[in-house]
Amino acid sequence: MFRVLHPKKDSYRYFIQGKTYQHWVDPRTQALKYHSDQVMDEFRIEVKGDQNPLKLYVLKSSGELVDTREFSFLPAKQNNLKVVIASCMDDQFPEVQKIMWNHVWEKNPDALFLIGDNVYADAHLDVLTHKKIKPGDGEAYRALITPKNLEGRYIQTRQDLLNFRMKKLIPTFSVWDDHDYGSNNGGEDFAYKSEVTKFFTQFFPVENLGKSFAEKGPGVSSVIRFSKVDVFLLDDRSFRTSQTHFGKEQSEWLFQNLNPKKLSVLVSGDQWFGGYHKFESFEGNQPEDFKNFLQKLKSKKAKVFFVSGDRHLTEIMKVAKKHTGFKTFEVTTSGIHANMYPGAFKRDPSPNQLIGVDGEFNFSTFTFHSGPSGKSVKSIEVESQGKDKVLFRKTLKITR
Ligand SMILES: [Fe+2]
Repeated sequence: MFRVLHPKKDSYRYFIQGKTYQHWVDPRTQALKYHSDQVMDEFRIEVKGDQNPLKLYVLKSSGELVDTREFSFLPAKQNNLKVVIASCMDDQFPEVQKIMWNHVWEKNPDALFLIGDNVYADAHLDVLTHKKIKPGDGEAYRALITPKNLEGRYIQTRQDLLNFRMKKLIPTFSVWDDHDYGSNNGGEDFAYKSEVTKFFTQFFPVENLGKSFAEKGPGVSSVIRFSKVDVFLLDDRSFRTSQTHFGKEQSEWLFQNLNPKKLSVLVSGDQWFGGYHKFESFEGNQPEDFKNFLQKLKSKKAKVFFVSGDRHLTEIMKVAKKHTGFKTFEVTTSGIHANMYPGAFKRDPSPNQLIGVDGEFNFSTFTFHSGPSGKSVKSIEVESQGKDKVLFRKTLKITR
C-alpha cells in the first residue's frame, strides 16, 4: 500500500513497472480534515511472481512526470530478516537528518519501523503558527495545541522528513508515542484522541493487509508477521491511565495473537523495564499492571524480545529469567534526530544494562538469524548506528 501527500490543485496518476508487470493506478484520494490545500492519495497493488525491483512513476494528469521511486516486495521467506528501528525524529534537525537517514538506507533493511515520536506534533507549534510563544509559556502555548495545528504538524513533518524522500522505498510500519499523540506524557483522557488517531492512521497507515501478514489491533496497534518473527507494535497512549499501560482490550489482543513457535518482538514507544529512572516506562508508571503482564507472558511460554524508544539514548538491558521464564533482552533505540542528553546514564545508572550510550543520535539495525535449519530465531544481531560511527554491536542469543 502506498500513501502520497500532495497539493490538492494537482491530481496524480501512478504507473508501476516490474520485470514483466506494468500497471496504471488511479488512487483513492482522501481529503485532510483541516487543511484543504493538501490531499492524501492511497493505492494498493498486487503482483504475480517475482517482479523485484519495481519502479513507481508519479505523473500529473497533464502527463508531466513529478517523481520516480524504486521499491521491492518482501521475499516470502526471511531467514535472516534485517530491520531498522528508529524513534524520535524531530524535524528541527535538518543537517543531522541528512546523515542519519542516509545511514539507514546504507543498511539496506527489509523493513523500517518508526516506533514513536515520528511527529513532534505538540512541539514547534510556534514555528508552525509563526507565533512568538514558547513551550515554556504554559497556558498560552497549550492553547496552540488544537486539532488543526496538530494536523498541520503532521503535514509539515511529512514534507520535511527525508525518509519520505529517498529514491528507494522501504516497507515502513509505525506506531506512536506521546508527541505523535499530541500530548506530552498523555494518555486515555486526551481531549483530541479520536481526531489525532485519524491523523496518525492517515499519515502512518495501520492496516489489515491479510491475516498472514499485517493486522490491525486496538487503537493504533498492529502485528506484522514475517516468516520467523512477529512484530507487535503496541499503542502505549490510547488506553493509558495511572493503572494500566496498554489497557485490557489491547493486552488481551496481544496474548491471543502470540505465537509460541515464533519470536515475538514486543514494541512500545516508552521503555518496558524502565523502573530505574523517573521518566515514563511500563515498569515505573504502572508497576502492578506490569507484574500481571509479565505473569501472563510467562504462562503463555512466548518467546519474546522487547524494543522501545522515547528515552533519547540507546541501551541493551538484560531481562532475567524470573520475568518471562527465559533470559531475554530489551533494546532501547532513540532518537534518530532529536535533542540528546549526555550524562543520562551517570544521572540514572541502568542496573541491568549490557551496553548503552547516551548523548549520541542513534537508530538500530536488527538481524534475526534463524540458524542453519532455518526453523526459529536463534540469535539477534543488534547494531546501534550513531552519526559518526557505530556505537555498539552485540549478538544476543535467544535460548527458549
Ligand atoms: Fe522523543
